[in-house]
Formats: sequence, C-alpha cells, structure tokens
Amino acid sequence: MDIQPAPFIPPAPKPRTTPPSTLEMIRIVYRNPLELWGEHTYNEPWISANGVGGHLIVANDPGLIRHVLVDNARNYKMATVRQKILRPILRDGLLTAEGEVWKRSRKAMAPVFTPRHIFGFAQPMLRRTLDFVTRYEDGGTSDIAHDMTLLTYDILAETLFSGEIAGEPGSFANEIDRLFETMGRVDPLDLLRAPDWLPRLTRIRGRKTMAYFRKIVTDTVKMREGKFKRDPGAVPQDFLTLLLKAEGPDGLTRAEVEDNIITFIGAGHETTARALGWTLYCLAESPWERNRVEQEIDQVLACEPDPTKWLDAMPFTRAAFDEALRLYPPAPSINREPIEPEMWKDLHIPKHAAVLVMPWVVHRHRKLWDRPDAFLPERFHPGNREKIDRFQYLPFGAGPRVCIGASFAMQEAIIALAIMLSRFRFDTTAETKPWPVQKLTTQPQGGLPMRVTPR
Ligand code: HEM
Repeated sequence: MDIQPAPFIPPAPKPRTTPPSTLEMIRIVYRNPLELWGEHTYNEPWISANGVGGHLIVANDPGLIRHVLVDNARNYKMATVRQKILRPILRDGLLTAEGEVWKRSRKAMAPVFTPRHIFGFAQPMLRRTLDFVTRYEDGGTSDIAHDMTLLTYDILAETLFSGEIAGEPGSFANEIDRLFETMGRVDPLDLLRAPDWLPRLTRIRGRKTMAYFRKIVTDTVKMREGKFKRDPGAVPQDFLTLLLKAEGPDGLTRAEVEDNIITFIGAGHETTARALGWTLYCLAESPWERNRVEQEIDQVLACEPDPTKWLDAMPFTRAAFDEALRLYPPAPSINREPIEPEMWKDLHIPKHAAVLVMPWVVHRHRKLWDRPDAFLPERFHPGNREKIDRFQYLPFGAGPRVCIGASFAMQEAIIALAIMLSRFRFDTTAETKPWPVQKLTTQPQGGLPMRVTPR
C-alpha cells in the first residue's frame, strides 16, 4: 500500500528564546526581520510592547485582525515606514494611495479586475509559459527563484502592454530590478523615525533609475493613446487599455494611470514569482505530494484545454500552492497605524502605534495550526479548507485593501504550475539550501538551484 511519509519541514528561523538587545534588533531588522520573533510571538493572541521605533502591536488573534483590517479599518492608515519606502516609487498607485484618492481609484479600477477580464488574460498567460519552458527542454540545473521572476515578468509585461513598450524591452526589465533593489529597502533611519530632511543614503542611488523608468512608462502610455485615437478597434485588451478606459473626472487621472502601471509591476510580479518558487521547492522535497499533483495535472490537461477552467479542476495543485503561500507568504507583513487610540477587548492600541498583522507569524501560530511548520497541502483540500478561519490565513490580506490582483495571481500560478509540472520534474540538489529572508517579499536567500528534467 502507498503509505504517506512524514511531511517535509521546510527551512525557517527558529523562534527566539531570548529577546535581542537594541543594537542586535536594528541589525536583525536590516538583515532579516523574520529572525526577530520569539516563542511568545508565535503563541500569544497579541504582543504589545514599547520598542526603539515607538509602540508595537503584533496582532495574531483572528478577531483582532478582523477588527484592524475590516471592522474598524477606517481608523487605520498605511504604516509610515512602509509609505516612506514605497511612496517615492509608487506615488498615488493603489498600494500607496490613501483617503479619497484611494477610494476613487479602487472604484475606478474594480472593472479592470472582473472575472471576464481575468479570464481574458488566461491565453496570454498560457502562451508566455509555453514559450518560457522551452529553456528546460535539454534538462540541467537552473536557479528557479530567478527563473520564476523572469516568467512572471514576461506574463505581466504581456498582460500590461502586450509587448508594446517604448524603448528597449530588455532594458525595461533590468531597470525594474535596479529600481526596487535601490529604492525598495528599509533604511535604518526610517526605523528610528528620523526626520525626513535627513538624507537616506540607501535611496539616493535609486533616483536616476526612477527618472529613467518613469519616462519609459510615460512614453508607453502616450504611444498607446496615439494608437487608441487612430484606431480604437485595433488596441489590445490589456491592462494599459483598461486603465486608460478608467481615466476620467470620477476615475483615474493620467498621473494615476502611470502610477498604477508601476504599482502593478511592483506588486504583481515578484510576489507571484516567490510563491511559485517556494511551491516547486516544497513539492520537490515532498515526492509523495508531487506525485499526487502531477497525476491530477496530467488527467486534467488530457481532457480540458481551456486554462480558465484549471483552477477549479485542480484542487490538489491549488492546495500545494496555498500551502506554500501559508509557509512563505510573499507579503510577510501587513502594517498599519491607528489614526485615533482605541481599545479592542482589554488591549489598548495607542495612537501612532505600529500595528503588525504578519501573515508570516499568523500562518505559523502554534495555537491556530496543527503542525504549523510542516508542508501539508491536505489542510487546503476540499472539506478541510472550509475549517480555516478567514482571518488566520491572509496571503492576500483582507478587508477593503485586500489584494486586487489575487484572482489574477491564482489563475497565473495554476497555469504556470500545470505547464511546468506536466512537462518537467523539478528536483533539489545538494546546493539547494534556501533561507527565507524578508525584503519587500519573502525571498529564498541562496536562490533555488534545482535540477530540471523532462518527464
Ligand atoms: C501571490 C501573489 C500576490 C500576493 C501574495 C499579494 C499580496 C498582497 C497583499 C497582502 C496585499 C495587501 C497589502 C495591505 O493590506 O497592506 C496586496 C495588495 C495589492 N496587490 Fe497584491 N499580491 C499578489 C499579486 C498581485 C498582483 C498579480 C497584482 C496586480 C496585477 C497585485 C496588486 C496589488 C495591489 C494594487 C494592491 C493594493 C490594493 C489596495 O490597497 O487597494 N497583487 N497584495
């Protein structure tokens, strides 16, 4: 009989047993905030403490999370530190907009993400993935973490602009990497809440890259607008066309169209890439699970050619992806700041406290999950997933600011996994020793070198 072996326990920092000194804490925050949290954090419903940067609240109780993200969301703005990092890049894009601008933009952009449009992106997603995997036909070893960022960038560029980018397409991809590497970093001065006039050395280098990048986006939008005016019937139905249609007095301004293009690139390709990389890694280390997923994919692909149907038709594949999102949430921390002080049960939440809802911690909380550190996709199999509280599993956030691209990402991930796993087997090697590190996303330090063999 086929007996299910013990589950794989993927690498993660052990909860600390002693609190770090102030200096050590600053060092850890800069190097890898995932290493900061102690036993308490993974066991208590919340942590409330005074730290270097002010008052800190870690929210773990699903009721408290629901309160912060949904029931009293109006009292919470985006955390100051996060805004300082991201706003110079994304400006009034949806991720960093606040107040009336956010409200108007979210409403204007809702039609862009309807199921009809998301389904419309399935064929370009499939085409790009089929093109992409030809690189594996001769077999060999490759850094899958890097490969997945190339694949999701390809898919995003196709669904954003249909390849119609002003200037050299290759240079655009390089500039994006450089932009987020230089600008998207926590500066130690931000953590210490130093005044804004003190220059952040980590960001100065990024300014030139940003000016160049912005110009490409402006020129691309102008190019498309010209085409739209000349022959509206000939423009592709991609994100850019949909965003331009959302322009108007009650919709987006031209500057906001550009900000949101940059936001989609920033929020929408590395996140999905990380999730795909971690999924392939966890499956490679769990051959029993991988076998089940491969069988499912083979069966579905044999009789269902329509990629918009795959997400519903592949519950085991989806469960493996969901479980990788639990263990390695690409957005490991959702940070908020209360506008007014308030009470939740007997917890006092002071004004300006840093309120952290950390998927990384909540998804591994000792009181919320059975065997929290194990890769067990069956938690998400039909019949089990319904038992998971909505507010203990939040890879895409929750409430009014829930990820607007979640359905896009899920569809893309299942299409990419179906194509990759139906044609190739991904195995770890002696060099595959990833260590999760929190940058803008949860990255595998050391990459994911894996051996790829045609099946
Ligand atoms: C696996 C992939 C993804 C993950 C894990 C993810 C995660 C998240 C999370 C946790 C948030 C909420 C942040 C907060 O409340 O502070 C968010 C917001 C957002 N995401 Fe995603 N995301 C993914 C893919 C995408 C894609 C593909 C797009 C666009 C095409 C996208 C666009 C956005 C935008 C624009 C927001 C801001 C929404 C708002 O504030 O109204 N994301 N995402």
